[in-house]
Amino acid sequence: MVESGKDIGRAAQLLANGELVAIPTETVYGLAANALDERAVARIFEAKGRPTSNPLIIHLAGADQLASYVRAVPDLALELASQFWPGPLTMLLPRRETVPDIVTAGLPRVAVRVPNHPMSLALLRQTDFPLAAPSANPFGYISPTKVQHVLDQLGDKIPYVLDGGDCQTGLESTIVGFEQGQLVVHRLGGIPLELLEQMAKGALRFQTLDAQKPLSPGMLPYHYSPRTPLLVVDEIDVCLSAYDPDKIGVISLDNFFDRILPEHQIQLSKTRDLAEAGRKLYQSMHRLDALGLKIILVERLPEEGLGQTMNDRLQRAASKR
Ligand code: TXA
Ligand code: MG
Repeated sequence: MVESGKDIGRAAQLLANGELVAIPTETVYGLAANALDERAVARIFEAKGRPTSNPLIIHLAGADQLASYVRAVPDLALELASQFWPGPLTMLLPRRETVPDIVTAGLPRVAVRVPNHPMSLALLRQTDFPLAAPSANPFGYISPTKVQHVLDQLGDKIPYVLDGGDCQTGLESTIVGFEQGQLVVHRLGGIPLELLEQMAKGALRFQTLDAQKPLSPGMLPYHYSPRTPLLVVDEIDVCLSAYDPDKIGVISLDNFFDRILPEHQIQLSKTRDLAEAGRKLYQSMHRLDALGLKIILVERLPEEGLGQTMNDRLQRAASKR
């Protein structure tokens, strides 16, 4: 029977015993295991139904632990770490042999990040190993931003969820790599792209990993999907007549639609604050997905800052069908 609670010592004990624990981070809940224990890591793939060709991020307590797991850290990586850690930035860096193959799917780089959540940081300080953790959702489904999401989706597969409340960023970390003096953004995420552009002083390239399948299969287009069909549109009004109005769910930044039932629509931020919208996006998708609707219409967000990240995720959520 799964339990949730705030017992960091218990979480540490379970992890040390090779068990899985769902942990809170500022981005989304993670499904964690001792990254140095291959059998424990294998359980993550099993619980998620995730192919083992899809590598995992390791979570550290601080940048001071980097040297144990990676070699040759570029200066820009150190600058980014001091600027954004703890926080929603994941860096791909050349791995040391200390990192088991199963974590990186045999790839030459390992993904590392320091999450910004007091409970998980305390947990990482208590354990003498880093935590491998993907988002705590079944493969392909919407990432969890609340304890209840984890309990609903993986409750029968794990013994404990460390309850750190709702995730404050609500969108996964930004993933970057360093190639030929350039900062390469592989996944948009919780850090607005504009901030990275400033730090890279123009030497920034954007390359989703979709095209190079083995590198980052997690970027496959059918990720982040609700079970209800989802459509991303520029103008919700013009789409409403195509469906039975009682069977439509709507997510919009700040618009309200008289023709849609109030309980079927969500305004992400009445003040058009993209950080607030990011915090609420996945929980809104989870909520509407539970209502048995015919379609969820989502109004495209402004293509700036976290709006760009949300549009990226919505595109992937939509392309399942
Ligand atoms: O915010 C986050 O990043 C959350 C929290 C829990 O930290 N984690 C997360 O993990 O989103 P996951 O597994 O759902 O997404 C990580 C992505 C995957 O697309 C994976 O393929 C890619 O990172 N990745 C991990 N290690 C990699 C590596 N060594 N080389 C290339 N891509 C890698
Ligand atoms: Mg994921």
